[in-house]
Amino acid sequence: MNALPDPVEEIRTAAETACARGRPLVTLTYAQSLDGSISHRADAPLALSGPETKLLTHRLRAAHGAILVGVGTVLADDPKLTARRVGGPHPLPVVLDSHLRTPPTARVLRHPRGCVIAAAEDAPPENEAALRAQGAEVVRLPHSAEGVSLPALLSWLYETTVCSLMVEGGRRVLTAFLKAGLADWALLTIVPYFVGGVPAIGPLPARVPQPESVEAFPGLTPDWQMMRLGRDLVVWGRVSS
Ligand SMILES: NC(=O)c1ccc[n+]([C@@H]2O[C@H](COP(=O)([O-])OP(=O)(O)OC[C@H]3O[C@@H](n4cnc5c(N)ncnc54)[C@H](OP(=O)(O)O)[C@@H]3O)[C@@H](O)[C@H]2O)c1
Repeated sequence: MNALPDPVEEIRTAAETACARGRPLVTLTYAQSLDGSISHRADAPLALSGPETKLLTHRLRAAHGAILVGVGTVLADDPKLTARRVGGPHPLPVVLDSHLRTPPTARVLRHPRGCVIAAAEDAPPENEAALRAQGAEVVRLPHSAEGVSLPALLSWLYETTVCSLMVEGGRRVLTAFLKAGLADWALLTIVPYFVGGVPAIGPLPARVPQPESVEAFPGLTPDWQMMRLGRDLVVWGRVSS
């Protein structure tokens, strides 16, 4: 009998060999409805994953050195970003937050590994003081209209010996990694509901000016896999951009 596929072990193996590449391996992961929504409203949380896929997410967190969300997700969901359902190890949490809008009461600031906030060089110093008072490490990085420079953040993480990064959302951050061609793996949980809410991914540029086929857009390599887990479907594979 064939053993069931285990995406976490596949990605863990890729992450373990990633340190030789000069930047952390990046895994995009999120849960979406059948219509591709990651939430019903941008400013409020919506629990999508069933218990089995929630557990898978925590196993995946434990397999990565760091976990990243945007400040939009901190404000909407107030996530803890731990691997508590599997007893750890907990990935280092990182928040992309150009202007240091993370509230000093955010739960991620009480993470057992501490919390890194990646901000712009001109972010307000008083916000930095308030976040440092809560134990956060504020890292100032180059910034453009798109936000904090993702290559600069990945280099900083690599220099601090982080070899694998799980990017858990939200929409703007997932889109930014795909646009920049910086996603190596993706694991999606698809839940059997229609939400008609916030789309998981925003507009992406095609590889050609007037695409006639979906193959002009980023996707998974042909060896992508899927499995049903509890009430949900899990799809994963390497990203080809
Ligand atoms: N279903 C799921 O798996 C899942 C997971 C996570 C979140 N969510 C949902 O996603 C929604 C939040 O998504 P969102 O798009 O509003 O917020 P987001 O992607 O979490 O955060 C976006 C913010 O991050 C900051 N940022 C800094 N540098 C950036 C960069 N290089 N690229 C992109 N963003 C950068 C920007 O704010 P500044 O300009 O202030 O820096 C930007 O507005 C919520 O509804 C939440 O519930 C769902």
